[in-house]
Amino acid sequence: MATERKSILVTGGAGFIGANFIHHLFEQLNFKGKVINLDCLTYASNVENLKSIEEKYSGSRYFFEKVSINDAERALEICNRHAVDTIVHFAAESHVDRSILGPAAFVETNIVGTFQLLEVGRKLHKENSDFVFYHVSTDEVYGSLGPTGSFTEETPYDPRSPYSASKASSDHLVRASFHTYGLPVLISNCSNNYGPYQHLEKLIPHMITKMLSGQKLPVYGDGKNIRDWLYVGDHCEAIWTILTKGQVGETYNVGGDCEITNIDLVRRLCEKVAKFTETPAQKFLDLIEFVPDRPGHDRRYSIDFSKISSQLGWKPKHSFEEGIEKTLRWYLDQSNWSRTQSGEEYQRWVASNYGKRGG
Ligand SMILES: NC(=O)c1ccc[n+]([C@@H]2O[C@H](COP(=O)([O-])OP(=O)(O)OC[C@H]3O[C@@H](n4cnc5c(N)ncnc54)[C@H](O)[C@@H]3O)[C@@H](O)[C@H]2O)c1
Repeated sequence: MATERKSILVTGGAGFIGANFIHHLFEQLNFKGKVINLDCLTYASNVENLKSIEEKYSGSRYFFEKVSINDAERALEICNRHAVDTIVHFAAESHVDRSILGPAAFVETNIVGTFQLLEVGRKLHKENSDFVFYHVSTDEVYGSLGPTGSFTEETPYDPRSPYSASKASSDHLVRASFHTYGLPVLISNCSNNYGPYQHLEKLIPHMITKMLSGQKLPVYGDGKNIRDWLYVGDHCEAIWTILTKGQVGETYNVGGDCEITNIDLVRRLCEKVAKFTETPAQKFLDLIEFVPDRPGHDRRYSIDFSKISSQLGWKPKHSFEEGIEKTLRWYLDQSNWSRTQSGEEYQRWVASNYGKRGG
């Protein structure tokens, strides 16, 4: 994909990874083109995430559009207005627990919304043969592993939750657009991200918030479920690498080379927060409590990212130690708390799902 990207539509840019990606474009890559953030601002979004970008570049190189991906007509009009040559598609309902409680929104956004956006992509491609559609997906589409083995790009899909089933479905639609219509697409499936700007319902920020307010730290089941953790900055770098060097029609797995059981993760977080706040770690460790397991809780994810590594030269730069220290520093900086969603909607959700938490 040698063509220079000049106008990128980022969907879901007011969410966690999308916001990090927009920061990455301007601050790490010194991207000189236009970025259009198309986001309908669900509970998971936070426009504060992009305040500094807005202040510097709004109206010249950064544009925000409060529009749903399901509104293909408006999305197309925006793309035409900005001569969009690239769509990087993050927008989704992303929380597994919420997908169990209310799967309809996941079907509507992740499946129907992605389909609508692909229709927009097809129209853009007719006018511009350099157009590319990049779809951001998850390793959860591959299902659950036993104690050994890792997901490769050839692992058959076996999604277990409404969230992963909806993402799997969207991946199939994206791939079908490549094979059927020749739409230039790129897909990446990555492991659990962590870092700044993540919604408090997700495991790491959820635990940090609970520790700081002296509340119990709920861990599902026996705590031995294994996840691979990827620092969000490394993920953004992987997306850019795939976008600029990847082969259209191909899928790339992206992982953090960092498998940890949930209980180990929570214990390590307790120790880190203790160090940062000069508090005895035991005070936090005593807050851990095991709660009934999540229905259909996948046991282990492990990602083989040798394809992107050998073909495109990407590998994660942050060890868990480095990534988590950066993340904690960000969450512990009081000025950043206003950017996290400790708002009413989240508190209501926690109250009505007592004992449950994300992952
Ligand atoms: N967070 C992870 O660990 C992880 C891991 C693998 C893959 N992913 C994928 O990466 C993408 C981004 O994840 P995230 O954690 O940043 O999600 P997020 O929930 O933090 O943000 C999602 C964003 O999408 C927006 N959105 C939702 N529905 C929309 C619609 N109909 N139209 C326009 N915007 C809409 C929301 O307002 C929000 O800003 C998702 O596709 C997710 O499946 C995430």
